[in-house]
Amino acid sequence: MSSKINIAVLGLGYVGLPLMLALSKKFSVVGFDTSHKRINELKRGVDNTNESKQSDLKENLNSFTSSVKKIKNCNVFIVTVPTPIKRNKSPDLKYLNGACSIIGKILKKNDLVIFESTVYPGLTEEVCVPILEKFSSLSYRQDFSVGYSPERINPGDKNHKIKDIVKVVSGSDPIAAKRVNDIYTKIISAGTYIASSIKVAEAAKVIENTQRDINIALINELSRIFDLMEIDTNEVLEAANTKWNFIDFKPGLVGGHCIGVDPYYLTYKSKSLGFSPEMILAGRNTNENVPKFIVNKSLKVMKRRGFVPKLSKVLMLGLSFKENCPDTRNSKSFETLSFLLSKVSYVDVYDPIAITDKHSFEAFKKSNFKILKKLPKKAQYNLIIIAVSHSIFKEIGAKAIKFLGSKNAVIFDVKGLYSLNNKFIRL
Ligand SMILES: NC(=O)c1ccc[n+]([C@@H]2O[C@H](COP(=O)([O-])OP(=O)(O)OC[C@H]3O[C@@H](n4cnc5c(N)ncnc54)[C@H](O)[C@@H]3O)[C@@H](O)[C@H]2O)c1
Repeated sequence: MSSKINIAVLGLGYVGLPLMLALSKKFSVVGFDTSHKRINELKRGVDNTNESKQSDLKENLNSFTSSVKKIKNCNVFIVTVPTPIKRNKSPDLKYLNGACSIIGKILKKNDLVIFESTVYPGLTEEVCVPILEKFSSLSYRQDFSVGYSPERINPGDKNHKIKDIVKVVSGSDPIAAKRVNDIYTKIISAGTYIASSIKVAEAAKVIENTQRDINIALINELSRIFDLMEIDTNEVLEAANTKWNFIDFKPGLVGGHCIGVDPYYLTYKSKSLGFSPEMILAGRNTNENVPKFIVNKSLKVMKRRGFVPKLSKVLMLGLSFKENCPDTRNSKSFETLSFLLSKVSYVDVYDPIAITDKHSFEAFKKSNFKILKKLPKKAQYNLIIIAVSHSIFKEIGAKAIKFLGSKNAVIFDVKGLYSLNNKFIRL
């Protein structure tokens, strides 16, 4: 235990909680969240993000708080609050502003504030630092330091946990960068990479997800071309992947609050500097249109097989934004569901992993759909869409899925979860 470093982690979600638990093994740490609901759950040992070990949670039940008083004696503050976008796709900085004003009011000389939230290059020093200065009446670099260390975890992925992923770190000056680095090297077995500036570290993170978004967009675009050519994209990809330098991406829905959001931070900043990035925005546009394409392709095949969509019953498997993850925020399954509901008789939805609440379906209030608690053994759905590739769906098996369909049912395996032999349609 280091006696000098007292850390407060602000924002205990998918990123902040695993980080706080990892830090607690080496430092004195308090986990702070403005959501009383989240804090009450954590104090009871409940983590509905599924990203933490029960034993780690249990050891920290008394370290969770919503009280600013409990973090005011800390000297390192790590910010892991959400960075969503507004309806018009511009950055929504209300959580970052909120966290900075909380910290600003308790900031002391020589304290260090580290940001982990994904932002555009420059945001930490242009937006966060002035708020810290304003509320603390202290001077940046002279009185307090700032660091930026982007989080790169992959929720639902049990093989790449926080300690296994190289951590990019940076600081407002070389001494701050060393302080940041000294903290993370204690918990990251994979090691750290010291970036030359905060801006470089911010840019490195935002381009990771931008690159992924564009690569997926290309494959989604190819799948639209191959649909017209009546060839299976997955078969094409399998063949192309036999070359050592072909990059392996699959078509699919791009939702959630990282890949589908982060590129807009970068394009926003770029536009403010007078350059409108065409490729990044085109990729976003392609990925935003996938739900509509899935529904239109389903209807096309259904009609070919003699089904009348308006009289058809549909089963949709998967609601969360990605496989094996309960997070449904900004999930494109909802958009797919919304398009479907306007075209077919009714839709049953099944996702045993996804966490939804009464607000999740507000847009669908009077609609013709039902959430299933469990799957029937046999059913007569005319269309089954496997929208999310949860392992649990793979375990159910293609045979059992076919059993849920009527004669000639259309089964749409969006992510290519089942073997090609099943002849399910795909993106
Ligand atoms: N989830 C991911 O896969 C992932 C991966 C890498 C980076 N990121 C980035 O990390 C950041 C956090 O994402 P997340 O998925 O953990 O978000 P999240 O929504 O799961 O959790 C954020 C938490 O912050 C809390 N919060 C909001 N305002 C606060 C404040 N002022 N003070 C304290 N707590 C506050 C919320 O109540 C919530 O519990 C975002 O910038 C995101 O882009 C996320």
